[in-house]
Amino acid sequence: MKKYYITTPLYYVNYMPHLGHAYTTVAADVLARYMKSKKKEVFFQTGTDEHGINIERTAQAYNKDPKQWADEIVIHFKDMWKTLHIEYDYFIRTTDKEHEKQVQLIFEKLIDNGNIYKGNYEGLYCSSCENFYEEGEIIEGMCPIHKKPIERISEETYFFKLSKYQDKLLRYYKQNPQFLSPSYRALEIIRFVENGLKDISVSRTRVKWGIPVLRDPSHTIYVWFDALLNYITGPGYRIDKPDDSFYNIWPCDVHFIGKEIFRFHAVIWPAMLMALDLPLPKKIYAHGWWTVEGEKMSKSRGNVINPIDIVREYSSDVFRYFIFREVPFGQDGDFSYQALKNRYNSDLCNGLGNLFSRVLSMVKKYCQNIMPESPNNSRLIEYFLAVEKEIDKDMEDLNFSLALDKIWKKISYMNKLIDEQKPWELAKTDPEKLKVFLSDMIWGLRMIAKWIYPFMPETSVKMSMYLAIGETKDKIIGDEKISPLFPRKN
Ligand code: ME8
Ligand code: MG
Repeated sequence: MKKYYITTPLYYVNYMPHLGHAYTTVAADVLARYMKSKKKEVFFQTGTDEHGINIERTAQAYNKDPKQWADEIVIHFKDMWKTLHIEYDYFIRTTDKEHEKQVQLIFEKLIDNGNIYKGNYEGLYCSSCENFYEEGEIIEGMCPIHKKPIERISEETYFFKLSKYQDKLLRYYKQNPQFLSPSYRALEIIRFVENGLKDISVSRTRVKWGIPVLRDPSHTIYVWFDALLNYITGPGYRIDKPDDSFYNIWPCDVHFIGKEIFRFHAVIWPAMLMALDLPLPKKIYAHGWWTVEGEKMSKSRGNVINPIDIVREYSSDVFRYFIFREVPFGQDGDFSYQALKNRYNSDLCNGLGNLFSRVLSMVKKYCQNIMPESPNNSRLIEYFLAVEKEIDKDMEDLNFSLALDKIWKKISYMNKLIDEQKPWELAKTDPEKLKVFLSDMIWGLRMIAKWIYPFMPETSVKMSMYLAIGETKDKIIGDEKISPLFPRKN
């Protein structure tokens, strides 16, 4: 059976990982865990983008050789993924020997089959983007992204025949409306392609830190051309020894990216795959950008959010919950510690945490700590099973915040039921009814534990343990004091 293949961008190793990188990677992890919980086999790949002039310069500024620099930064990425409970299957670095070799061989093949040719390039270049710009895109001589001066450069270069794929791309977008996601970002790409595609420069003579063109080593391969290929070299595309097991993974089901690199992924990447005669990915999902208290997050502003700090103060689950609850996935969002604290207090302490401890302490008090048997027909379970279908749909559509919103509505609903039913009174007037009620509550919590699993794996497992879910037939909650899921903070 083909695996469900999920990727993140390969992050540049010029800085430490931050909130933005964590956002995309947790999104991929949420989907991976969800798919696994639905018994799908998953291949989840992330990694680092290590070549190019920016990394060369950064390393130089720190008096390090670029590879040594990359080796140090990669540790921070891997540590962060561990801290955030990211369960990736493969971590690829563009400096991996096998990746470098395949990129070289792919480049050769594309020269041989006429998709890459040698020419001269003159253009406006931003070395921070490692990207050429059109006159019209420049703002007062500055790069529109970095607001740094643009240089006019002329050099011998290899070109990739992107222009040849214009019609084929447009046809693919039309026939696969899911490909450009979310749908409100599709038009931007379609317009861009309709306006006409130019061949793009895919080699550099001025950049030393890169993969050399095999037949012409004074050229290194353009960092984007190199990096995009990770998505096939990682799962085992081998030009020199083709192996069908690659197709157990490829084509990709979802490439998660940020909106600023949508063109690379939605235009150049599929064209490269067409040139290689490979099937195209099913979906490119470009989410929005986080700002911090209204400002762009940047090193120079000193407002870069490090998720590790949040994990230290709260927990990995709290971080994971917050970033998907606070902002509809896909759109831009703003981070603030106040918003985090508010969510923690209202949704987690007073919402889920309170519900959980209320129900368990009642089982302790009124049922001698033994989980009440479930009734044969429970309205609550029926209702929740219907809700589960809607949550599944949201998860499949990558509407993560909608899914969380639905789950938390059910948490409020259960808290309200307790207030209305007043189980402490039932204990005196109708103990049988109380048992049925508590059994419903336990089942409701079990389902909530299952639903939150992709987002909050630790909390889910902890809840499941107390609720006696899984292998164990033991229906008794541990006798020790139940520690709160979310301790109160002042
Ligand atoms: O672009 N908000 O790497 P990169 C949300 N190496 N997401 C953010 C973010 C923010 N403020 N900042 C970063 C590159 N991201 C290339 C990719 S892929 C073959 C090569 C996330 O280190 C988001 O996913 O600049 C964005 O696309 C990515 O980090 C950019 O990481
Ligand atoms: Mg970037």
